Amino acid sequence: MTKKKILVTGGAGFIGGNFVQYMVKKYPNYDIYNLDLLTYAGDLTKHRDIETNENYYFIKGDISDREKIIQLFEKEKFDYVVHFAAESHVDRSITNPGIFVHTNIIGTQVLLDAAKQVGVIKFIHVSTDEVYGELDFDPNTFFTEETPLQPNSPYSASKASSDLLVRAYYETYGLPVNITRCSNNYGPYHFPEKLIPLTISRVLNEQKIPVYGDGKNIRDWLHVLDHCAAIDLVMHEGIKGEIYNVGGHNERTNLEVVKTIISTLGKSEDLIEFVTDRLGHDKRYAIDPTKLENLGWKPTYTFETGIAQTIQWYLDNKEWWEQIISGEYRNYFENQYNI
Ligand code: NAD
Ligand code: DAU
Repeated sequence: MTKKKILVTGGAGFIGGNFVQYMVKKYPNYDIYNLDLLTYAGDLTKHRDIETNENYYFIKGDISDREKIIQLFEKEKFDYVVHFAAESHVDRSITNPGIFVHTNIIGTQVLLDAAKQVGVIKFIHVSTDEVYGELDFDPNTFFTEETPLQPNSPYSASKASSDLLVRAYYETYGLPVNITRCSNNYGPYHFPEKLIPLTISRVLNEQKIPVYGDGKNIRDWLHVLDHCAAIDLVMHEGIKGEIYNVGGHNERTNLEVVKTIISTLGKSEDLIEFVTDRLGHDKRYAIDPTKLENLGWKPTYTFETGIAQTIQWYLDNKEWWEQIISGEYRNYFENQYNI
């Protein structure tokens, strides 16, 4: 297999971090460059086991820093860009939309310019099913790649804007791109602000679980390693210019998810606390992944096997999520990378 240089943006975050690990281990002949600003969501302790690998490099940097990004692309001449870096939490976008516009839109445009200027084999833009807006509770309706974009939160609006820029760079300049839009990921190293890791960590600490509204909103859960395999496939086999939806056919109400975690850990449902609903809370997401399945992708986890593995991982890695919650993990890279 020919040696390739892969730039992964946001590789210190949840999905990007799992993807970096997956690629470094699966493709010893590829050089994996992890470019990350190490915001509150970035954590390098997850890469302790690969940080001395010969095919792994970390670069601390901001995707919206035009001058440095162009210089980096000119120096390294990446073959592929897999772009995860983003502000990703819907609740934060409701209280502070500006940083979402800056990172998710401007940051993506800077990367597109750099890729266009220097040239790449493929630019893979990791997006979200949230750009399609929400579905009603009819179980026969799904998001397809043709569903119109109707984002409802500042987060999803910023992601939809970046998707449109990626599309425009393909149509206007012929930049070879793919866009992937996936449903809710879960699995190891998920930051404990999101529903599943927040619930697991709070149940283990016997703290109340805040369930927004009536808990009947539905999400379609995808194990992060199935997502990594999907991106690997799209990177190598995806038809240039195409969009691929990634989903697990694992729809659950939020209340079902929370109750599953509580019962697996043998605790009481009294921990559930219904709280004020999220503003503009999308009712339901559900993906039709047929197009990606036709390319050869199949998820390996059901929700049952995936959530059991994930709960076990949080039991086995209490030290990791405790340091994240306390903020202590920041000492690790402050010492190492001298921010
Ligand atoms: P995350 O918040 O865990 O990680 C984001 C990473 O990006 C962090 O390491 C952070 O330090 C880095 N980052 C932020 N701003 C940056 C900047 N200006 N320059 C460089 N790095 C920066 O996010 P995640 O949940 O892993 O999501 C990754 C991508 O996948 C995002 O683009 C998100 O929109 C998309 N996505 C996530 C999900 C999900 O369920 N988590 C589902 C669909 C799509
Ligand atoms: O669908 C893909 C999206 O999934 C990604 O694009 C986002 O980056 C990712 O954060 C995720 O967005 P959600 O808003 O769906 O995920 P979150 O874990 O924040 O919430 C899941 C559901 O649980 C949602 O209906 C809100 C609800 N919730 C969330 C939290 C944090 C609660 O009821 N209580 C909570 O404390």
